[in-house]
Amino acid sequence: MKRGITIVLLVAGCHPQDIDPLEQQPKYKPYAANDFFADGRAMRTPPEGTVPRERELDLAPPKEITPALLALGHEKFDVACAVCHGRVGDGKSMIAGKMGLAPPPSLHEERIRALPAAAIFRTITEGYGLMPRYSTMLDVRERWATVAYVRALQLSQHLPLGEAPDDVRQKVGP
Ligand code: HEC
Repeated sequence: MKRGITIVLLVAGCHPQDIDPLEQQPKYKPYAANDFFADGRAMRTPPEGTVPRERELDLAPPKEITPALLALGHEKFDVACAVCHGRVGDGKSMIAGKMGLAPPPSLHEERIRALPAAAIFRTITEGYGLMPRYSTMLDVRERWATVAYVRALQLSQHLPLGEAPDDVRQKVGP
């Protein structure tokens, strides 16, 4: 009976952090002092321009769609997207022929043309159904550039003739 009580007391005195290796390992807590650094603080300021991963999706699109941005988007689209969606985005590609159930759609479909730019950005960032994510291959600016290029491709197939430049109108117009 006496021995039983001793064991209970031993177990009760044992806190979970005594056994958690992460709790035990040597580390600096927030606001701790550390004389290794000149300012005496353990906490470091992240390099300028650092963005936490979870804030990435909130990054605003570029303010201006410049020829340079479109050229970047064109380059990235041809490398990352054309294999499946086709170079003009019409969904005609070698891969598309082999993806029987959910083939890459034409980006000129009515529904996809109606998607807001942010939705296309999200599709590239997170992937969509059988489409893998491209956030590992394209950084944020490259993804927005690709979105801008997708928009340019869509416009190229749907511009009302009246809005086309004169020389194009003369070539294809009545
Ligand atoms: C491996 C082939 C593949 C590649 C590469 C690919 N996609 Fe896709 N994409 C798909 C498939 C498949 C779907 C349809 C998925 C579904 O409906 O389940 C799709 C869907 C989409 C959609 C429609 C999403 C929606 O809301 O319906 C957009 C927009 C899109 N892709 C853009 C892109 C862009 C931009 C790139 C390049 C960064 C790209 N895709 C690269 C296969 C691909």
